[in-house]
Amino acid sequence: MPNSTIPVITIDGPTASGKGTVAHRVADHLGFHLLDSGALYRLTALSALRRGTNLTDEHAVAKVAEHLPARFNGGHIYLGTEDVSHAIRAEEVGNMASKIAALPSVRQALFALQLGFRETPGLVADGRDMGTVIFPGAKCKVFLTASVEARAQRRYKQLIDKGFSANMDDLLEDLQSRDARDTQRAVAPLVPAEGAHILDTSNMSVDEAVARVLDWYAHS
Ligand code: DC
Repeated sequence: MPNSTIPVITIDGPTASGKGTVAHRVADHLGFHLLDSGALYRLTALSALRRGTNLTDEHAVAKVAEHLPARFNGGHIYLGTEDVSHAIRAEEVGNMASKIAALPSVRQALFALQLGFRETPGLVADGRDMGTVIFPGAKCKVFLTASVEARAQRRYKQLIDKGFSANMDDLLEDLQSRDARDTQRAVAPLVPAEGAHILDTSNMSVDEAVARVLDWYAHS
């Protein structure tokens, strides 16, 4: 099958909107592959932090992204041989990821890697620019959002469940500054793609959100 005919569902949205969970569930249901593009920015940030790379040196961070030994296997994420599934979820790494994601050469370095996830029978791609930049021809595009309060509650629960400590006020502040950075950056800012279905999940269960996306896909 030519690569461009492999179906893609893009799910973009702000941090902690629930898109990761929804994307996983939709991919499982359809037997599709999953691209967690945020994990690539998190892996780049973690790798750069560990190497002591100057995070404001665009060229140096892009080099880290270009040679990223990323591996996804059985729901686990590896940097080389190390399982970093847990480490990349730390707030510090998320904040760094959001900062380096504003650097055009870093985005460029991760471009081809992301296209490579498009494999039969299909792909669910989760991120910020999946429908606008990486897979603009996707069959079904979704922009998933939720109020900042609902997202802070979800992130709080996620962090506590994963054994990290968390403070609600700090989280709210973090989310707001990440939203501002992700939506206002010059390259690939977070905006709904043309033709995207907008889904506000503030008062919606995961099951309802998954059902809605599957229905849109079935009718796309
Ligand atoms: O989805 P996430 O929280 O794991 O993403 C971490 C950061 O990576 C996010 O704040 C912005 C950046 N990102 C991006 O710029 N483009 C993407 N497609 C995915 C994530």
